[in-house]
Amino acid sequence: MERPENLIAENFPPLQNDTFLRAARGEECRHVPVWCMRQAGRYLPEFRETRAGQDFFASCRSPEICCELTLQPLRRFPLDAAIIFSDILVIPQALGMEIRMEPGRGPVFPEPLQSPQDLQKLKPTIDVSQDLGYVFRAITLTRHKIEGKVPLIGFTGAPWTLMTYMIEGGGSATMSKAKRWLYQNPTASQKLLQQLTDVIVDYLVGQVAAGAQALQVFESHAGCLGPQQFAEFSLPYLREIAQRVKQKLKSEGMEVVPMIVFAKDAHYALEDLSQSGYEVVGLDWTIRPQEARERTGRKVTLQGNLDPCALYASKENIEKMAKTMVEAFGRRAYIANLGHGLYPDMDPEHVGAFIAAVHKHSEEEEK
Ligand code: CP3
Repeated sequence: MERPENLIAENFPPLQNDTFLRAARGEECRHVPVWCMRQAGRYLPEFRETRAGQDFFASCRSPEICCELTLQPLRRFPLDAAIIFSDILVIPQALGMEIRMEPGRGPVFPEPLQSPQDLQKLKPTIDVSQDLGYVFRAITLTRHKIEGKVPLIGFTGAPWTLMTYMIEGGGSATMSKAKRWLYQNPTASQKLLQQLTDVIVDYLVGQVAAGAQALQVFESHAGCLGPQQFAEFSLPYLREIAQRVKQKLKSEGMEVVPMIVFAKDAHYALEDLSQSGYEVVGLDWTIRPQEARERTGRKVTLQGNLDPCALYASKENIEKMAKTMVEAFGRRAYIANLGHGLYPDMDPEHVGAFIAAVHKHSEEEEK
């Protein structure tokens, strides 16, 4: 059992490497900080061993397992940030939807929302400290056990991305069931998105209270929306989340931590995203670094964006691509990452080569 003080969100060890937080705030850094989406994942043999035979969402409920999985990549690589092991789908689950992780298929809701009447099946409100308190306990424990080596990032799915899973019942190539709602039931769609927004705000504030030092909002399914629908069904909620989380942190006397928005494949909305209240805009690999800089101006930090599949290349080529990427973004106001998460069949050594190359080539430029 954990020592009780490790489950109390105070007296955390002092932070030793603040590069990620400095870059997020646009401050000068000694090197470009780097972390990888899905850095705690099945590409690591130790991850597969810890997860073996355990139900995925049962693992998410164990602070000890979440802590161990979060720390694993830090033992291997000189990463500049950690992201808490959890999942975006814990929110629909907390709202009362049953979810299963099916090997080979991913997360599945056996009873997805089929019509606006089904919204009545969701709990109208939830108490995040009750229903998602296990995530907060995992964050607090991990923040102690990380010993101040690097900052700990908390996260959530954005309302639209959560809505797609709740309606599709699982992954989908077209998202046509969820998009049908936007065209046929816009009012019910807005109602659901607002309900999710309200939960997300409390959830993120609770993560900071528990010890998260930055927050990332994953709008992973932005790409299936066009500019019009993004403006109507995603952006207003992303904005509201940033604004209300910061307001609440301030009014509750907590530190206002940097926030990252990652709207995958939403290059059509880059200007809007850079003015949506987030310090950092995450980019997928389909956009050129120079173009992203030109379109977002100097006010935001950019994060990304190497094609994750580039890690299938040789280590020499990975180094070259990382160097080109760092040079194209420039050292200031930049956090290196991939354009999406790591895949299970990736070679940990190639992940290490990417991280080392970012550090090497971002320090060199100084000379
Ligand atoms: O290291 C990290 O990035 C932190 C952990 C993390 C997980 N999920 C763990 C996980 C994060 C940030 C997420 C977010 C998440 N979950 C997103 C948004 C990011 C993205 O990828 O766009 C989404 C869409 C989900 C939903 C989800 N969870 C899917 C589609 C899957 C199946 C993926 C697959 O390859 O099977 C999951 C399961 C999941 N979440 C795994 C991990 C490490 C793999 C399953 C396992 O460990 O058994």
